[in-house]
Amino acid sequence: MNTKVTKAIFPVAGLGTRFLPATKSVPKEIMTLVDKPLIQYAIDEAREAGIKEFIFVTSRGKGALEDYFDHAPDLETSLRKKGKTDLLNILKTTNMDSGAIAYIRQHKALGLGHAVWCARRLIGNEPFAVILPDDVIAAEKPCLKQMVEAYEHTGGSMVAAMEVAPSQASSYGILDVKNYNGDVVSINGMVEKPAQEDAPSNLAVIGRYILSPHIFDNFDYIEAGAGGELQLTDAIAEEILQGRDVHGFRFKGQRFDCGSKAGFLQATVSFALAREELRDELYDYLTDMVSMKTAAQ
Ligand code: UTP
Repeated sequence: MNTKVTKAIFPVAGLGTRFLPATKSVPKEIMTLVDKPLIQYAIDEAREAGIKEFIFVTSRGKGALEDYFDHAPDLETSLRKKGKTDLLNILKTTNMDSGAIAYIRQHKALGLGHAVWCARRLIGNEPFAVILPDDVIAAEKPCLKQMVEAYEHTGGSMVAAMEVAPSQASSYGILDVKNYNGDVVSINGMVEKPAQEDAPSNLAVIGRYILSPHIFDNFDYIEAGAGGELQLTDAIAEEILQGRDVHGFRFKGQRFDCGSKAGFLQATVSFALAREELRDELYDYLTDMVSMKTAAQ
């Protein structure tokens, strides 16, 4: 089995109901943080981690996402004529090599696990990454690159993990930790959305995974949950039951939940403040807003 991680699955077939009415016609992954769509952050992170093949699990209404990765020859010619080299260079970062990108359809939104399973034939017998574009991670070294480096030592499967407050445990898959070894955590299992008092640790799984292809067989053993959805967490937990290694990885960086409105707004402000040309104006505006709020209290 090839042990190098060169393929990544991007499950983007969800309905994105938390962003209705926008997502009635705009795929959530095309929504922009400042001027870059969520999906571009995910692609950039994957490229930096050495990913060469990009597999999108899409659904009805995601046409704009497929168009986004097409070349735009008219636009390029026009920018070239006007000598707008900076904009041309920005545009080039969105171009994908021929054959590097594949789209597969999830015909029904049967859950994240099912979306990943839909891509099984394109993965074959090698480890692969899964990136949820909703989870945007600001980090000096991109999160998936940190994971790929750790995975070279651990093998098995790996899930990105971050500490959450006890009150938030019920919103995440939570790791049942066997032992801590620096950033890498050995685990006994995972519990999906436990009640606060039942959470086995404060480490939550977020949207970056490196998975063994064995995971696809596990779907034969797991049952669909509410709404007929197949959970990826259950397929990973089955991996542990089958006696294969799964590790948690405590990445360095700040994760934004861009699948929620509050997280998306926080990411927008944070990414805008990181941009030199926007920082001062935005900072002044935010300072004024805070003063007004304080004065009104
Ligand atoms: P979410 O749980 O955020 O669901 O999916 P969603 O449909 O995107 O958004 P809301 O909750 O309705 O607002 C997490 C990730 O799993 C993908 C989504 O596209 C997202 O990247 N997903 C989810 C699928 O690809 N297929 C599914 O059936 C469910």
